[in-house]
Formats: sequence, structure tokens, C-alpha cells
Amino acid sequence: MPESATETPGAGITAQAPAPAAKATRGAISIRNVTKIYDPEGVNVMAVDDCSLEIAAGEVCMIVGPSGCGKTTLLNAIAGFHSITFGEIYLDGQLLCGPEKPLADQGADRVVVFQNGALFPWKTLLQNVAYGPIVQETMGKAEALEKAADMLAEAGLADMAKKFPGEVSSGMARRAEIVRALINDPKVLLLDEPYRAMDALTKSIMHEALLEMYDRTKVTMFFITHDLEEAIFLGDRVVVLTTRPAKTKKIVDVKIPRPRDYRLLGSEEFRLLVSEAKGAVHEEAIKAFEAGERELA
Ligand SMILES: Nc1ncnc2c1ncn2[C@@H]1O[C@H](COP(=O)(O)OP(=O)(O)O)[C@@H](O)[C@H]1O
Ligand SMILES: [Mg+2]
Repeated sequence: MPESATETPGAGITAQAPAPAAKATRGAISIRNVTKIYDPEGVNVMAVDDCSLEIAAGEVCMIVGPSGCGKTTLLNAIAGFHSITFGEIYLDGQLLCGPEKPLADQGADRVVVFQNGALFPWKTLLQNVAYGPIVQETMGKAEALEKAADMLAEAGLADMAKKFPGEVSSGMARRAEIVRALINDPKVLLLDEPYRAMDALTKSIMHEALLEMYDRTKVTMFFITHDLEEAIFLGDRVVVLTTRPAKTKKIVDVKIPRPRDYRLLGSEEFRLLVSEAKGAVHEEAIKAFEAGERELA
């Protein structure tokens, strides 16, 4: 086994967090022995089985695994969209959900970024970004608009601030969405395959923009993807989940220093890490196929 990998076979084995990223002091997620059983019309579907994972403050934790294995289920539990059946999830040592309280509150400390953009088409990028703090009354209108303008400028979108989402490229709209997610200074970004439908070129531009943003904020990311190159390029660790029900199968540590840029993609180190993750995902994809799951990673 390569030195960078930590094999974690079987249920209930806690994956240890790496040393916290420089400067980050918040946003540590602790997933402890989490099981989720859906019960549609009395038919039990176990989506997650005794899954444990420690994510350090400021870590970019990439989650991969076959389709239908339980990735979104875990994200939904952290976000407070769905309850868990057993186990506990903590954020910075505070219980989000557990036996007494199976559904976490949907706090502004955790923001979700979905695959399909969620900007209001009838608002400009600036109005979209300022919208959250205005309606949540965490900032006055003038303050929210000023902060939104500054953050859009930092993300290279100063000239686009007054445009509507339909007037800018999809890549720019997605960038604005990340800015919107960050305006309330959340502890954690929860990203569910945000760039899945993008062409390779737009995706690589998104990756660099996201990494720049990360270098500024050090926000913890729980980032689900099917794309192993994306996982290695962005992540501090890549957590490979088993086929359903999800458990931690393998963790690939990506000890490539930041800031990172696209030149990394051609390096031997990068290719080796991708192939290491690919091996683990492939094994699980075969199991999912044999179990008759519809779609594969
Ligand atoms: N609301 C639900 N009710 C019943 N089963 C569900 C529900 N949501 C997801 N599932 C099932 O749980 C399993 C895991 O789903 P999900 O977490 O969405 O997988 P992934 O995101 O890894 O593709 C799948 O078999 C899916 O069909
Ligand atoms: Mg999913």
C-alpha cells in the first residue's frame, strides 16, 4: 500500500483527521458511527452503515463513491435536510444531530452548493450575493451590498456585478454562487457535485477560482464528486466510500502543497494519486454493478 493511503476496512473504524490546515480554527466535522435507514412505504433502505469520519477545521475533504452509495445522504444529514437513524454528527465539538435529536438545525454555519445553480434569475449577481444577509438580517442592506461588491471583485467578477445570471457565462454564475455561499462567513461549505455537468475547460477554471477562494477563507469543504482528478486537484484528502450502504473504504491523503495550479495536472505525483483513488473506486463500482445499482461512478 502506498504511504499516502490509510486503509479502513469494515464498519465503525474511525478515519483520523489530518493536522488542521494552517490558519483554520473552525469548521471541524465529526461523523461518528452514523447509520441512515430510509423507510419508504415500510421498505428499509440502509443508505449509510456505521460510518465514521473526522474532518479537520479548514480541510478540503472530497467524498467519492459509486452512485447511490449514500454520499448525498451524509451531506443532507450534516446540512439538516434529513435525519440520521443512529450515530452522531458534531461541528466544532457541538452536537448537530444524535440519538436525542436526529435532525440537525439548518444553521447559516453550513451552506450547501448544489449541482444546479441556484441564483435568482431576476436579480443581478450583486443582489443575489447580498440577498442572504439582507433577508436573514445579519447585515443592513447597505453593508450587505458593499460586502457583496467587495467579494465579487475578489472573485474577479467586479464588472459582472450589475448583470443578471442569464447575461453571464455559466462559469461566472457558478463563481457568483460560491461568493453568495460565503458572504455570511460559514464554517462549512457542503458541495454536492457542483461541477458535474460542466465541460472540462470551464471546470478547470472553476477549480482554480475555488482554490483561490479557499486560500483566502480556509473554509472547511465537504465536497462530493465523481471526478477523481477533481478530487485530487482540490482535496486535502479523498475519502472513498463503499457501495451502499456507505462506509469509509479508503482515504487518500493528498500532500500536495497549496497554492495549487493547473500545472499540477501533468505531474507524476498527481497521476499516481488519481490512480490510487481509481483502484479503490473501481472495486466498489464493480460491487455496485453486481448488486444491480443503476449508475456507476
Ligand atoms: N428519500 C429517500 N427515500 C428512500 N430512499 C432514499 C431516499 N434518498 C436516497 N435514498 C436511497 O438511498 C441510497 C443512497 O442515496 P444517495 O445518498 O442519494 O446516494 P449518492 O448521493 O451516493 O448517489 C440510494 O439507494 C437511494 O435510492
Ligand atoms: Mg448524490
